[in-house]
Amino acid sequence: MQPLRIALTKGRLEKSTVQLFEQVGMDCSALREKGRRLILPVGDGSLQAVLAKAADVITYVEHGVCDLGVVGKDTIMEHGSHFFEILDLNFGRCGFALAAPKGSRFYEGYRVKTVATKYPNVARRFFESKAMDVRIIKIEGSVELAPLLGLADGIVDIVETGATLRENGLEVIEPIVQVSARLIVNGASMKLRKREIEDLAACLEREV
Ligand code: PRP
Repeated sequence: MQPLRIALTKGRLEKSTVQLFEQVGMDCSALREKGRRLILPVGDGSLQAVLAKAADVITYVEHGVCDLGVVGKDTIMEHGSHFFEILDLNFGRCGFALAAPKGSRFYEGYRVKTVATKYPNVARRFFESKAMDVRIIKIEGSVELAPLLGLADGIVDIVETGATLRENGLEVIEPIVQVSARLIVNGASMKLRKREIEDLAACLEREV
């Protein structure tokens, strides 16, 4: 039997996932000493980890080349979910928020505001829910730059500690929603490898 393949979001979520796997007794020495390798064995070899960027975790799980994935709810909200989301892993906790330069009174006036974000779908739905017309500009990273450079009135972004906003003279205008890491499963894998997936999820659930 092929190992179950799980795509992990590289970086912070990967570190928390390794900690969780170790808490449930899985050997993660290969993941800890991975060097530049991207596919690594976990535990007794019945699980194989694939390291990918968040949006790519979803792509690999949706296409069924990975059975499972660990990815932030922020990425799921932005990219949609043609897969099962079976467990809230309770790490990677942060929130979406609308932020703007301190004291700028984002909601005042009738002019159509410009909002920069890495998450245009989340931002669009947020403003649609308020029936507010905005212009959205997609930015790939360090979105806080956009209002500082005069490109946007505000941003929709992830806030974790709030330090990036504070240190760049921005403030939260309105929190949008809290998010955290989720365990996701490909639809076919959920049927074909149900038992193994449920065992793994049950084992992780006891620690989260
Ligand atoms: C995220 C987010 C904020 C920052 C928030 O960026 O987009 O910029 O973290 O964290 P804080 O509230 O703890 O300061 P990330 O580090 O993922 O980098 P990026 O903006 O380049 O994508």
